[in-house]
Amino acid sequence: MFPLRRHRRLRTSAAIRSLVQEHHLSVNDFLVPLFVEEGKGQKNEIPSMPGYYRYSLDTLEKEVKELQQLGLKGILLFAKIDDALKDNTGKAALDTNGLMHRAIKAIKNTAPEMVVLTDVALDPYSSFGHDGIVENNVVRNDATVAILANMACTHIEAGADGVAPSDMMDGRILAIRQALEEHQREDALIMSYSAKYASAFYGPFRTALDSAPGFGDKKSYQMNFANQKEALDEALTDIEEGADIVMVKPGIAYLDILSQLAQQCSVPLAAYQVSGEYAMLKAAADKGWLDYQAVMLEQLYAFKRAGAAMIATYHAKEAARLLNR
Ligand code: PBG
Repeated sequence: MFPLRRHRRLRTSAAIRSLVQEHHLSVNDFLVPLFVEEGKGQKNEIPSMPGYYRYSLDTLEKEVKELQQLGLKGILLFAKIDDALKDNTGKAALDTNGLMHRAIKAIKNTAPEMVVLTDVALDPYSSFGHDGIVENNVVRNDATVAILANMACTHIEAGADGVAPSDMMDGRILAIRQALEEHQREDALIMSYSAKYASAFYGPFRTALDSAPGFGDKKSYQMNFANQKEALDEALTDIEEGADIVMVKPGIAYLDILSQLAQQCSVPLAAYQVSGEYAMLKAAADKGWLDYQAVMLEQLYAFKRAGAAMIATYHAKEAARLLNR
């Protein structure tokens, strides 16, 4: 009761404020999304993601070394697949000499300690731009899951530490976990995109990988953003099926979901601050309307406060530089 309780006492100096600070941010909190493409000497800026690039495997090595020097420890790997290789069977996704598999090896050769988690979903490989096999305009669940399980095993075989299924098919975590066990890959991590919403915030990413759906939308597999309870159901199912880490995506607009899962799940949580969030902040900063670094850190702290153990973010490098100062 006032004046016995004066909350401002704990805010009187920077030193006191730092002593009572509840949440902290460091390079250990970030996963770096990395985009790879074919070719030599390529480092191509993604138009809708200023300051973010796709790398060919040779330029990737330099980038990975830089990440390592900054103290960053984990990569989320995405491959841009040539149009000629896309079909409706996921064939290119299983090619053990494919871009994804070569990229895993290139990263592990350059930085063996770097934790490599690979994207597992069919959209970059799909002539329809959907996350699974399409039949009569429907994305088939079980046929897709069988391919994803194989795909996951080939990524681990190539040297990845874990897989990050981003497809939202039902039962894929169980199928992947069982396939990994059968291949004696019992240490392979599964980070499940458990609560992945059908979101317009993914727009810039789809330009980065040229993976926008050719027809319809992803609402028959990604979650309805009007739902909250369903997220817990998804996460608990994935944990039961063998996920080590569960993710909420997108980020800032979904902190209620993150906070709910933090209270109800005992596994580590990841948040994905997605491409559209990055693009919005870049654009506002470019116009001089927001202080880029300040807003970036404020948002990253918000993820920690809501309960994220790790944050996949396109700001990882910039934030690492600031935090290492
Ligand atoms: C595809 C995938 C998407 C993202 C990660 N994996 C896009 C989608 O579901 O359409 C989005 C990432 C981002 O926007 O930063 N399986």
